[in-house]
Amino acid sequence: MDLGSRFADKLRHFITLPQERGLKRATTIAVASNKGGVGKTTSCINLAVAYAQQGLDVLLIDLDPQAHVATSLRTYLTHTGHSLGDVLLGRSNDLKPMTTRWEHLFLAGSDKELSEIEMILGTKIGKEFILHKGLEIARTHYDLIICDCSPNLGTLTLNALCAADKLLIPLDMSALALEGVGDMLNTVETLRTRLGRSLEVCGILATRYDKRAVQMNQAVEQSLFELYGRRLLQTRVPQSSALNKAHMAGQPIFEFAGSSPGAKAYRDLAKELWQHLQIARSGEYPTHAVG
Ligand SMILES: Nc1ncnc2c1ncn2[C@@H]1O[C@H](COP(=O)(O)OP(=O)(O)OP(=O)(O)O)[C@@H](O)[C@H]1O
Ligand SMILES: [Mg+2]
Repeated sequence: MDLGSRFADKLRHFITLPQERGLKRATTIAVASNKGGVGKTTSCINLAVAYAQQGLDVLLIDLDPQAHVATSLRTYLTHTGHSLGDVLLGRSNDLKPMTTRWEHLFLAGSDKELSEIEMILGTKIGKEFILHKGLEIARTHYDLIICDCSPNLGTLTLNALCAADKLLIPLDMSALALEGVGDMLNTVETLRTRLGRSLEVCGILATRYDKRAVQMNQAVEQSLFELYGRRLLQTRVPQSSALNKAHMAGQPIFEFAGSSPGAKAYRDLAKELWQHLQIARSGEYPTHAVG
């Protein structure tokens, strides 16, 4: 992109003009599981920052009324944007996200209003495709769009799944989480057969991996291999107090504890997912942080 278009692109975030189409074709990934607390938000934030630091233009969308993404990145938000609700309610197709301290990372935030919006959306015809439509222009301005979902299969999550090309399913190493993966895969199949949406599961991610829980890990991993084989990603995100503290401090792990095992795991994950995501400007995984 030349200097003029870059400037115009930046300016659009500050003035209210209908957004024009850009030249990009974002890959959209939903991070979802109907089980709570498995590391969806933590994974979204750290993946988004990892890719933005590599120079990819990343839009992070928080579709969870708990609004944990903005809380977790609160110290890095540099300019407020428009409400995601306007796009979901069809009042605007001009998604103006918040800017962040990283030049390449943008955030379309959630707020408590999103729960009410979810109820309103539930009554609309074609309710599953509202976000898909709302992102039509945004897709042309980013390399990657990451959607953080609530721990349920409500209308907002279904919107994320219908807007996405890829699905990442985090799973903590528990038997209950295994059931959650099954539910998600059934949903993917239902979306395919009933709504004609083909969503590729780009990986099942083991999170909160506690090396000491040897027997439980073995049992869950064996089931995962048997049931889902190659979909299980190699990266294991360890159970790590640094990840929890980073969340409380409102920082991505790379800023809070850049050399911790959690930071390494999320760097490894970004690298491992690179090929699966088929980002339009693909090729080798970039190796230099650019800001
Ligand atoms: N690998 C980890 N090690 C230790 N703590 C973690 C890890 N991953 C996430 N956490 C902590 O667990 C809590 C839940 O994580 P997170 O918010 O990412 O899960 P979630 O799946 O998005 O939850 P919800 O379903 O409520 O949206 C947070 O306090 C987070 O800091
Ligand atoms: Mg969450």
